Amino acid sequence: MTDRNTSDLLIQVAMRAEALPIIHLLSLKPIGRMDPNLPSELWQGIVHGHRISLVTNGCDPEFDCDRIGTESAAIVAFLALRITRPKLIFNAGTCGGFTSQGATIGDIYMPTRFLFHDQRVALPKFDAFAKGEKTTADFPKIRSATNAKHGTCSTGSSLDTTVDEMAFFAAESVTCKDMEAAAIVRVARDFQTPFIALKAVTDLVDHRQVVQESFLTNLKFATSRLADAVDHAARVFSAV
Ligand code: ADE
Repeated sequence: MTDRNTSDLLIQVAMRAEALPIIHLLSLKPIGRMDPNLPSELWQGIVHGHRISLVTNGCDPEFDCDRIGTESAAIVAFLALRITRPKLIFNAGTCGGFTSQGATIGDIYMPTRFLFHDQRVALPKFDAFAKGEKTTADFPKIRSATNAKHGTCSTGSSLDTTVDEMAFFAAESVTCKDMEAAAIVRVARDFQTPFIALKAVTDLVDHRQVVQESFLTNLKFATSRLADAVDHAARVFSAV
């Protein structure tokens, strides 16, 4: 693609329902697919004086739902970073929070430590690679503009949580559980592009309510909080 896609800021969002409030608030315009072989969709606009691109993972043509999870997160990050060459990438989305860590529904987190909780390889070096621990720079102006909480985000490709994963979260003091951030951090690192995760809490992992019920009940509220946070972050972006 051409230089017209070069952007100051790239926002990657897994689900269309998570992205639409941001697209509306920032008045982004649909551009279409980045690649004919991938359902990922691109929106663009000039917001607060910055060229902004937003990409979603797109709808799977066979299963008729958003392509959530780590494979799509990594593929879309690779392509979008290559095409838009941003100064900064945001991963905006929803997450599970933890009552034990003080979370409530709709809280915004901006974690700076990332892990995978469902990748285990008990071999030298591959064990650390599988866990994929990475830390990212903090951006205090964006944190204060979004009023985001600090923490550790752990990524896996399942919405629910196993007993072993619960123990992992406690041992690692995890504050956000999601399905893409650690995968995108890895790709952003390859592109030497600074990364920020903004995550809105839809459900509480250590609460007895069934996760899918809580997720669906709180999705609208959490994504509207997320859109406000992304807008506030984009406003102070030049000052980072
Ligand atoms: N996104 C929102 N809630 C989540 C959860 N509990 N696990 C993974 N991803 C999520």
